[in-house]
Amino acid sequence: MGTTAPVRELPSSPRGLPLIGRSLEYARDPVALFRKQWETYGPVSPMSLVGKDQWVMLLGPEACEVALRNADKAFANGPAWTYLVGPFFGRGLMFLDFEEHHLHRRIMQQAFTRDRLESYTAAMHPAITAGLATWAPGPGFRAYWALKQLTLDIATRTFMGGAEHTTAEEMARVNRSFIACVQAAAAIVRHDVPFTRWHRGMRGRRHLEEFLRGYLPSRRAAATDDLFSVLCHIESEDGERFSDDDVVNHMVFLMMAAHDTSTITLSTMMQLLGQHPDWQQRCRAEAEELASRLDGAPGLADLESLGSIDLVMRESLRLRAPVPVVLRRTVKDTVVLGTRVPADTYVTVGLQFSHLMEEYWREPEVFDPERFSPERREDRSHRYAWAPFGGGVHKCLGMYFAGAEVTALMYHLLLDFEWSVDPAYVAPMNNHSLPFPKDGQPVDLRRR
Ligand code: HEM
Repeated sequence: MGTTAPVRELPSSPRGLPLIGRSLEYARDPVALFRKQWETYGPVSPMSLVGKDQWVMLLGPEACEVALRNADKAFANGPAWTYLVGPFFGRGLMFLDFEEHHLHRRIMQQAFTRDRLESYTAAMHPAITAGLATWAPGPGFRAYWALKQLTLDIATRTFMGGAEHTTAEEMARVNRSFIACVQAAAAIVRHDVPFTRWHRGMRGRRHLEEFLRGYLPSRRAAATDDLFSVLCHIESEDGERFSDDDVVNHMVFLMMAAHDTSTITLSTMMQLLGQHPDWQQRCRAEAEELASRLDGAPGLADLESLGSIDLVMRESLRLRAPVPVVLRRTVKDTVVLGTRVPADTYVTVGLQFSHLMEEYWREPEVFDPERFSPERREDRSHRYAWAPFGGGVHKCLGMYFAGAEVTALMYHLLLDFEWSVDPAYVAPMNNHSLPFPKDGQPVDLRRR
């Protein structure tokens, strides 16, 4: 007969400041907080974050795996993410759980087949070349803000089919509405009180809904290649379709999910390639070689052949995960690596920390894209050692879309520009919500 190890109870945590708990510490330096939690408690640690509820932090690939694989269905997404950003992105796929999530994901998967990705990719190139043509290079060029505008333009083209009735000024307002929604995640006042982040987020959400509802009739009427139209027309194998509300909710979430994450990936890549000219040249040589063989813009398979850009992208996602943590809430008592986590606990799954653990990576702080090469594959040290896209049933549905977008944009950037960044530069990050460089990521940019 085997013996069962005793289940440990969670130690009580220092509470931090009332209401905001350790949130400020997180905002200042998430990795330092992860490390402190890890060194004090190990993989399952008590936390106090926003509000008065009990939070638990899971660190290291093994603990993250338990929540992401969710074998005993103890971890739910909806009640956790809703708490943080529900009024702004609620009813998006990431907020749904269990049966309902399964049903919506099955329908939405039809919008991310390889054929669809091929046509989204084709639509990206004109948006990229038009956007890059407007860049005014020079020393201290704020790459992050320029990339943010560009990824929004790409999303408008590939998601909305160009938003044909919308002026540039109105699109800038749409962009501001997204920013307001994302920034509201870090609000301390979590009610619709004037002049607060929450209030701006609510106003942003209403504006986005209006904007999308205005386009619903035309997208329902004719099937075109953009994601909005696809969501209006797709069916699961059993014939289930999305309602108008579903389409709007999924669109708002998808635009958010696609926009900020790709922007931060690209700006990290620009920083690192600016600091490592050898890698920049290596990536450019591949892009030039591909361009010399092609008549027009690269398709999906062409982009996938750009191996060095892929290595740099993986390394950038490792060093600066666009989604450093994902959230869950337990819907029943459960046990994680021998520690009891009671029902109704908010859980922070610290994906970013696994990317920086010496147990799994050689010199984890160093930029070394070759660690992902077939000869080394350090990411294979554990299934969840590298998990920028999460894992389990909620694993990012836009992972291949993101790969195509980032590679397509990098391809054009490398062909059109050269840039450099001081090797000693450290990006001052704002971590209140999804991370971004507060200084707009200056690079010295030259047109080639
Ligand atoms: C580098 C870019 C991206 C990163 C790092 C990223 C990361 C993530 C992560 C970590 C999750 C899991 C959330 C959770 O477990 O609670 C997720 C979910 C999701 N992402 Fe992404 N994402 C990226 C780009 C995109 C793009 C471009 C799209 C759409 C075009 C997208 C659509 C989604 C969707 C729909 C989900 C929810 C999946 C589900 O709950 O079933 N993402 N993403």
